[in-house]
Amino acid sequence: MSAAAAATVARTLRRKPDAVFLLPTGTTPLVMYRQLAELHATERLSFADATFFNLDEYLGLPPDHPASYHVYMRDHFYSLVDANPDRVQVPAGDARNPQAECERYEAAIRDAGGVDLCVLGIGRNGHIGFNEPGASFDSRTRVVRLAETTRLVNAADFEGDRAPERAITVGMKTIFESREILLLASGANKADAVAETLYGTISPGVPASMLSRHRNTTLLLDFEAAELVEEAPE
Ligand code: F6R
Repeated sequence: MSAAAAATVARTLRRKPDAVFLLPTGTTPLVMYRQLAELHATERLSFADATFFNLDEYLGLPPDHPASYHVYMRDHFYSLVDANPDRVQVPAGDARNPQAECERYEAAIRDAGGVDLCVLGIGRNGHIGFNEPGASFDSRTRVVRLAETTRLVNAADFEGDRAPERAITVGMKTIFESREILLLASGANKADAVAETLYGTISPGVPASMLSRHRNTTLLLDFEAAELVEEAPE
């Protein structure tokens, strides 16, 4: 899964060195980032002309907070490759005016020419970015309330085991407008969400189900996450 994801990122970069990427954090993409760092070291794959946006950030966290997605991306990816810091953006979780920050972020994605490749993880409840069940397919970058289940899953990253209640996330429509989307899922606890995404009704109740309507989306699954995937008939 990770090798295929890294290969897709590399292919996009080789075809279009100034491509625009929209990227996830979390456990799932860790090995993909490591493999991209290896491609940079061994094959001189360059990220210098590309532009990177992150999908989300916790509201209220300063960029140097150890559980912030700023720190995650710096430690697991940006510091390991030649990404240009001027072309890297993560929503400012500590913005004084979060609403204005959301509008600024959305405009920055638009001004960059939109997203060439969006890489997504998936929540156990089918969320993408921090678009939790119920998120409108028309939504843009905005402040959202995290589902309690999401907060529980991510609690261990925070002192006192309490994750923030809100986050800034890129919206469903902005994700959907990406020219190519990769959704990565790893582990048995994603199998239900993957099956709902593939076979369930397309509805905001399972945000990832929206991807069924996208022309250029690929699901990359490990065996556990693909447990409930039916084999295509011969
Ligand atoms: C994180 C994000 C989330 C995660 C999802 C899966 O930036 O956008 O949608 O991709 O919660 O997280 P992991 O990979 O930790 O299971």
